[in-house]
Amino acid sequence: MDLKVKKSQKPLQGAIRPESDKSISQRLILFSLLTEEECVFEKISSALDPRSALSAAACLGLEYRLENDTLFAKGPGIAGLKEPDRPIYCGNSGTLMRLLMGLLAPSRIFAVLYGDHSLNNRPMARIAEPLRDMGAVIHTRRGGLAPIAVVGGDLKGTDFTLPVASAQLKSAVILASLHSEGQSRVIEPIPSRDHTERILAHMGAEITRQGSEIIIEPGRKLSGIKMKVGGDFSSAAFFIGAGLLGEGSEIILDDVNLNPTRTGLLKVLERMGASLVVDETEDVEPIGRIKVASENLCGTVVESVEVPLLIDEIPLLAVLAAAAEGTTTICGVSELKVKESDRLSGIAELVRLLGRECAIKGEGKNLTLEIYGRPGEFEGGTYDPKFDHRLAMAACVAGLNSPEGITVLNAECAEVSQPQFYSELKRLGAQIEE
Ligand code: S3P
Repeated sequence: MDLKVKKSQKPLQGAIRPESDKSISQRLILFSLLTEEECVFEKISSALDPRSALSAAACLGLEYRLENDTLFAKGPGIAGLKEPDRPIYCGNSGTLMRLLMGLLAPSRIFAVLYGDHSLNNRPMARIAEPLRDMGAVIHTRRGGLAPIAVVGGDLKGTDFTLPVASAQLKSAVILASLHSEGQSRVIEPIPSRDHTERILAHMGAEITRQGSEIIIEPGRKLSGIKMKVGGDFSSAAFFIGAGLLGEGSEIILDDVNLNPTRTGLLKVLERMGASLVVDETEDVEPIGRIKVASENLCGTVVESVEVPLLIDEIPLLAVLAAAAEGTTTICGVSELKVKESDRLSGIAELVRLLGRECAIKGEGKNLTLEIYGRPGEFEGGTYDPKFDHRLAMAACVAGLNSPEGITVLNAECAEVSQPQFYSELKRLGAQIEE
């Protein structure tokens, strides 16, 4: 399905409750495998990635029923995991494959994991290697790619410093550490999202943090958990972008997860001149409301340490930077090359389509993205997001500032994280045509 989005005469107005958090929904589904007590998750995400997690968990013995958007799940516990008689499909989801590698490494079962074309070409050696150091038997396709075979067995604790700021890698090692022999220490020089630590600690795992060190004492029995999932900040971000770009627009985002390890974009946008009103309440995860109104933005510098806190929002940030006055520099963006697509190239292509210039500077693990912004309307044309949901939604938001319009190819890939994205944007007043 190709969609054309163009600047509408009217400002965007209204309230949205974005799709539930994908990272948290996937973790809750996977972690419920590790306890034999019932888990209840209200407002579980219905996006494609969490649905892949649910099917994968069912292959491993999770019994569940869905009543509207409440998931009742009962797992077999680590010792009772069912050995699947066929490969487990992880769809488009790096979180699912990587967390499963860590979860299954200390189990008693053999499992093969594979994904779609994108996932089967993303780096998995970064997960396999530290798990092998703990004693895991993991086979990958040449080049450290999926399909992957995990032969569960006895592991020993680890002392591991993350070489990249990756919550997926951190989570895989933490999950393996829960059922290893002896204490583990995971050191993260640059903080990344901490949903795994929060949820597992809430389930009774002994996970403590001392500065940049996460200490895991294995062997604790995990209990069931009841939790309501908040809206996904990464999905909300596209509506924040839509609100900021459209003249006279005012959008309210309700019930959004505001975990500070996810909301780095808010700080960056404030530096760019946005005044966002945020109210929040604290639970296992903080939740709140964001009010956004259109604003003239200016360029800023995003430092490498901020990048993991807004990693999935960079395509959208690039669109806003293209409409801002002056240069926006985003340091430490190499990880964007190994996301659902090569997002760095995808962003550069999009910014140029909008009639703005950008540059990718540096080498290897030290890449910097510079966007030379200019206020005013965008040019238009056809954009191929290469089946990457976040590039498709970023291009769609950019179209809101293009009188000529932007045609987004295969726009349905937004379903991976936000199935209702286009209909919700339309409800706020956006002009979107098939
Ligand atoms: C995620 C972590 C991030 C993020 C991804 C989801 C997670 O990936 O980009 O969309 O759920 O832990 P990395 O851990 O590879 O940075």
